Amino acid sequence: MKFSHESIIKYICIIRIHVFGIKLVTDSIQHDVVIIGSGLAGLRAAIAAAAYGKGDTSIGVFSKVQVMRSHSVSAEGGTAAVLFEDEGDNIESHIYDTIKGSDFLADQDVAERLVKTIPHEIYQLDHWGMPWSRRKDGRIGQRKFGGYSFPRATYAQDKVGFYEMQTLYDTCQKYDNINFYNEWYCTSILKENNLFRGLTAIEMKNGNFVKIKAPAGIICTGGAGRIYSFSTYAYSSTPDGIDMAYRAGLAMKDMEFVQFHPTGILPSGILITEGARGEGGYLINNQNERFMKKYAPEKLELAPRDVVSRSMIREIQEGKGFKHESGYDCLKLDLTHLGDEKIKEKLSGIREIGIKFSGIDVIEAPIEIRPVCHYMMGGIHTDFDGKTELGGLWAAGEAACNSTHGANRLGANSTSECIVWGRMTGEQAAQFALDRKGSTIEISHDQVLAEEKRIFDGIFRGRGQVNPYEVRKELTDTMDDKAYVFRTEETLVSGLKRIRELKALTWKHVDDKSKEYNTNFTNVMEIDAMLRTAEVVLMGAINRKESRGAHARIDYSNRDDINFLKHTLAYYNSEDEPRLTWHPVTFTRYAPVERKY
Ligand code: FUM
Repeated sequence: MKFSHESIIKYICIIRIHVFGIKLVTDSIQHDVVIIGSGLAGLRAAIAAAAYGKGDTSIGVFSKVQVMRSHSVSAEGGTAAVLFEDEGDNIESHIYDTIKGSDFLADQDVAERLVKTIPHEIYQLDHWGMPWSRRKDGRIGQRKFGGYSFPRATYAQDKVGFYEMQTLYDTCQKYDNINFYNEWYCTSILKENNLFRGLTAIEMKNGNFVKIKAPAGIICTGGAGRIYSFSTYAYSSTPDGIDMAYRAGLAMKDMEFVQFHPTGILPSGILITEGARGEGGYLINNQNERFMKKYAPEKLELAPRDVVSRSMIREIQEGKGFKHESGYDCLKLDLTHLGDEKIKEKLSGIREIGIKFSGIDVIEAPIEIRPVCHYMMGGIHTDFDGKTELGGLWAAGEAACNSTHGANRLGANSTSECIVWGRMTGEQAAQFALDRKGSTIEISHDQVLAEEKRIFDGIFRGRGQVNPYEVRKELTDTMDDKAYVFRTEETLVSGLKRIRELKALTWKHVDDKSKEYNTNFTNVMEIDAMLRTAEVVLMGAINRKESRGAHARIDYSNRDDINFLKHTLAYYNSEDEPRLTWHPVTFTRYAPVERKY
């Protein structure tokens, strides 16, 4: 009797099911477009792909969390757009603010695309039911945000992400061809001949390891900000999607640029929106001084985040900080002069955060804050359209680096980017899939088996004495300590050394052997991705011997346009160190100048 390769594999799988009680590789799922991640970019992509195909495309949205637990729901302050040219704002100014904010590392054609596309999307959301805050004259409300020449952060109280997510999720319900797979943990990308072919994933509710086939995919898994301990991100914001692409041979771009938002509340790091300063709040030191007048005389607290965060650390270094009971040095954000009515109407969310997480009502007293990891300018390298280096695969939102934000993102430009590239990538992926309708998707079993070996033999059944949760804590503390607002060769090199030591310890094991909702298993896979990503952040930061945007080197304190006006690309190189290379910046009209605010 002769066995085909396929039947031998199935036979091996049956034996393994029997032995380990885990159902391995089922072939049952196929879609035209698979979207990994269900935040703003993922949902906007799903709607676009579903609508574009006019019912002929089937869309699968895979997320390790329930949709409304995606980190996008915690976006607070606004979505940047030029809405009122009749009142003096203009597209050119938003483009230039974005490029200047990026410290001239943004690809200028990409920034232009963001700015020209987002106004339509704001009105599209409005038509889908988005409860934008309104001015007294009925027009959509916009507030001031850092680094802009005009109030253009379009807002809904201080819960913009929550309302945008509600609006998009609600709109998704209108499409029968959008299928949600909540609490599925995607583990790898499947590919053949440099074409995307699908994914492997674990269905968390039963522990099954599943092969998902699709001609087109979009990674929308958000940023990697949980590689820091003091972070505004949800605990689920680990770089699984970014790392999946990296392991599949795609570059991570510009990962050294980590944004520290000036106002993370102490002790947790939860975001206090820049909208608080946009509405008139200000920062004070222990002399009760509005110290930003020294550093950004024109924009004050509404300078871009990199400028404000550096100024805060300088104040602390000069002994002008406060000591929080947690031991952290900090400064204070004062909103008391805004008054009860304005705070309750426009900033009710952060008032609640203040009361619940620091015991302070911002109506009555200033709150203690310090710069906190908030955003990754870097991500999966894509082009202008959001296309990755793998045919049939796109990336959108914070997981992607299409180079809109360069070395420093302006507040409110992130939700804009998610929506704009969510839609664009959704439409392109749908077209790509429609062009291939009816063709079969071949995937070699070797890839699936290799992935099965990596996660089940290498992690689930791994052995070791080291507690993975202690490794995670030490990794994130190391990043806080060694790659914060200011960096030096010495801190970065010692951080990298520590990350590599952690990598080498025997933490890859899962003590909980249950199949259903095994979060111990997914947590250890997250740590695996976090360590590789932290290594890329540190190597990129060591390699970039200049200060630009959010990457501030004390030992190379100037921007160096001659040697470093270029993007960093990092490629996976097995378990050796990543291979770093450079990629050009696209310029259209704006020559780099010194940034002054
Ligand atoms: O401060 C904020 O509300 C954050 C906005 C953003 O990161 O875009």
